[in-house]
Amino acid sequence: MRKIVAIGRGGVGKSSFIALLAKLLSSKRGCSILLIDADPDENLAELVGVDLGKMQINTISDVLFNVRYGNINERLKSFSLAEKIEFLINQNALYEGDDFDLISIGTKWTEGCYCQPNNILKNFIVNLERNYDYVLIDSPAGLEHINRRLTSSVDDIFAILDATRKALHHLRRAYRIISEIQIKFNNFYVIGNFRFSDELPEPVNKNTGFQYMGRIEYDRKVEEFNFKGESLFQLEQDSPALLSIGRIISNIGY
Ligand SMILES: Nc1ncnc2c1ncn2[C@@H]1O[C@H](COP(=O)(O)OP(=O)(O)O)[C@@H](O)[C@H]1O
Ligand SMILES: [Mg+2]
Repeated sequence: MRKIVAIGRGGVGKSSFIALLAKLLSSKRGCSILLIDADPDENLAELVGVDLGKMQINTISDVLFNVRYGNINERLKSFSLAEKIEFLINQNALYEGDDFDLISIGTKWTEGCYCQPNNILKNFIVNLERNYDYVLIDSPAGLEHINRRLTSSVDDIFAILDATRKALHHLRRAYRIISEIQIKFNNFYVIGNFRFSDELPEPVNKNTGFQYMGRIEYDRKVEEFNFKGESLFQLEQDSPALLSIGRIISNIGY
């Protein structure tokens, strides 16, 4: 199993990158993928063509909320807390598709009283992840809550940079935060987003010591599909964004 997370400022292209990566990896024969939408804004599902509402699939927060407030089937009430959570996630919150499976963390989650479910959830996720070749996590900008709720180790971090002069500053800050919150990782790859300027790779290499792996190409269709809420899985094979991400991951050895 190889676990991957994308980080970067809001709007930099993280969710699109994860969706496109899922599309590329799912076209490899016999490759199983779990997508985890850890962004409370929850648009990864839409980007990969899954309508959670229509399919009546709960978010993880829904499950924890229902368990916490006893909003569950009588039959389950004698179960332990861990059993309840595991049963309900498996039954109601795991989307299982041909190309990938998906869970969404959701928004209802209030802090504080959820310490025990957090640990149960972390264990559940560790066990679930074992069934897949790739686990791709779409996160909002901050990684702290990923550490607290989901996982304390990943294999590859993809830091996506935009074209602003502040990009390098953000990169260093992200790296420091990751070290401080003690997320273990093997590789920290830097990639430029679709607005990234051609002059930036050099300062990345010179000033940060991080590995610059290339740029995600601008792709009109990616923009259009995002806008319309259509699945990026429908992109043609010649999509510039898809091809550029394909080159990046093949250089890394995926
Ligand atoms: N390769 C690309 N080419 C063109 N536009 C893109 C590309 N990737 C993302 N976008 C645009 O950028 C916006 C933000 O992308 P998104 O993946 O939602 O970023 P994030 O998850 O980091 O907030 C999208 O609405 C989309 O229009
Ligand atoms: Mg996003």
